[in-house]
Amino acid sequence: MSWTLCANADAVAQAACARILHAAQLAISDRGSFKIVLAGGTTPLLCYRLLSAAASDWGKWHVYFGDERCLPPSDSQRNSMQAAAALLDRVAIPADQVHPIPAELGAAPAARSYTATITGATPFDLVLLGLGEDGHTASLFPGHTHPEAAIVVPVYQAPKPPSERVSLNFSTLSNSRQILFLVAGESKKSAVASWRRGDPLPAAAVRSQATPEVLIDRSAWGERRL
Ligand code: 6PG
Repeated sequence: MSWTLCANADAVAQAACARILHAAQLAISDRGSFKIVLAGGTTPLLCYRLLSAAASDWGKWHVYFGDERCLPPSDSQRNSMQAAAALLDRVAIPADQVHPIPAELGAAPAARSYTATITGATPFDLVLLGLGEDGHTASLFPGHTHPEAAIVVPVYQAPKPPSERVSLNFSTLSNSRQILFLVAGESKKSAVASWRRGDPLPAAAVRSQATPEVLIDRSAWGERRL
């Protein structure tokens, strides 16, 4: 894990935006497309808004989601709706290159459907992830077990509402050239300390050949320096 300390949440968003644009440029020049997995929650929204004002070869972007809440498609609390408002509705990514998780079908059928969507899309170029106060990431929560071979998993009794969700599994999230965690705010301090101690948090289980990077602000880091 590589930790990059940022002054505040804005700096996390700016650093994330720069890394994503750079990753997109490299992927498009090397392979003709950029396959990104977006994170849910509120932390990445500022980064998405910064991206929406930036220049990129949007026609070559392919967008997937790390997880989704089992809510109606137009529910404002859906990760896909929040990403659409902050970014996807503001840039010219072809609609058939944006792949929302059909979580409205229910966790199990949506997981089956998205497994077909994801198969053939990996390795991703960049996976964006957040960190929950309990150390979860995407919708992979402490104390939940999932079959290791599953590509996308249904999630029930999630401690963070809504209780029913769909999530890419650890190995799928790890199957990426680059993994970037965005962590900001005092509320994440204890999960970060646990992560740094080496506790077996779900976030710690996402690792790939490339070292994941954590962009973290001072409030979440809890100390004056790295
Ligand atoms: C979700 C996210 C979840 C999120 C973390 C952090 O559906 O809520 O997938 O994993 O990334 O809970 O959320 P915040 O960024 O809102 O703190």
